[in-house]
Amino acid sequence: MPDNSLLILPGDGIGPEVMAEVRKVIDWFGDKRGIALDVSEDLVGGAAYDAHGTPLTDATMAKAQEVDAVLLGAVGGPKYDELDFSVKPERGLLRLRKEMDLYANIRPAQCFDALADFSSLKREIVAGLDIVIVRELTSGIYFGEPRGIIDDNEGGRIGVNTQRYTTNEIRRVARSAFELAKRRGNKVCSMEKANVMESGILWREEVQWVHDNEYPEVELSHMYADAGAMQLCRNPKQFDVIVTDNLFGDLLSDAAAMLTGSLGMLPSASLGAPMANGRPKAMYEPVHGSAPDIAGQGKANPCACILSLAMALRYSFDLGDEATRLEKAVEKVLADGVRTADLMQAGERDPATTAQMGDAVIAA
Ligand code: NAI
Ligand code: MG
Repeated sequence: MPDNSLLILPGDGIGPEVMAEVRKVIDWFGDKRGIALDVSEDLVGGAAYDAHGTPLTDATMAKAQEVDAVLLGAVGGPKYDELDFSVKPERGLLRLRKEMDLYANIRPAQCFDALADFSSLKREIVAGLDIVIVRELTSGIYFGEPRGIIDDNEGGRIGVNTQRYTTNEIRRVARSAFELAKRRGNKVCSMEKANVMESGILWREEVQWVHDNEYPEVELSHMYADAGAMQLCRNPKQFDVIVTDNLFGDLLSDAAAMLTGSLGMLPSASLGAPMANGRPKAMYEPVHGSAPDIAGQGKANPCACILSLAMALRYSFDLGDEATRLEKAVEKVLADGVRTADLMQAGERDPATTAQMGDAVIAA
């Protein structure tokens, strides 16, 4: 693979729309900053199913394993709701995460000052908020066996999923959280339900082990995940890095997302083990889905995907200064009052289109 290879997988719904703006940003970096990313593009999700009968071909999977980073738009949509579970668009995403072994999902929840009044919480509770949720991504209840829907032999059925974590799975994601914390507020809060789940007891013990043996200088606290959900709404600024399992992380990061105002602003990174070149395996994607309700109308906010590119520049391409440049541009655009519809209050008019937002970021 050439240096700085990036595989773009736009996917479905608004995925291709927001990715078109990302392409403009990548072109700008090439033209104006001399940063040449080796970009290739392929299908994922429903788009791949339509073309190949599978949400992710083996060829695309192999490509994803070779590149320095994958940038994915979003997958899914009502058109695919009736498909068999095994070929649903989401399966393409889950396969990428699983086979690339992207065990640490990093979701920043950062409140841009210009958007603080847009949060569902009071300005003083969210203004300046800057926390990161590290969600374990490749194990836990979404993958544990046994799973399935079985007959109970009395005319009813039983739905089964299994929460299962190994020592190694817990320790490696804990390390990701402590490493992040060292570069931030030096504080990790681990969340589980050790009061009612054995997997939670092991989680707590192993995170504590990693702390005591490898990161004693980082402040560690533990919280039951339900209490954590309350604290996230009551006083989110008490946190710096939160580390939690796949299921709780799914819920808590979506809740944290709403503290900052809009799904349309939230990037994420999913990181795995280091590759031969020392860079972690990585996939970047906006937190939002394919937004079928607004797809094809030029309404989507491209910032979450643009900020995902910024994370890729920082974590996969060692271009932290350029990442900051891009993030500052987004911040300036917001401060200047440019808003896609999702960032407007009731009664405000004339939202920027997806393309206008992308152009404004480039201008900034
Ligand atoms: P969603 O994130 O697609 O949309 C939720 C709401 O937020 C919608 O009202 C949507 O219009 C709005 N929204 C989302 N992104 C936006 C953006 N960039 N700009 C402006 N508004 C935005 O979640 P939903 O509706 O639950 O799922 C829709 C489809 O997406 C489903 O098929 C679902 O399976 C899939 N999905 C895919 C994900 C992924 O690819 N990572 C994640 C979540 C859902
Ligand atoms: Mg979710």
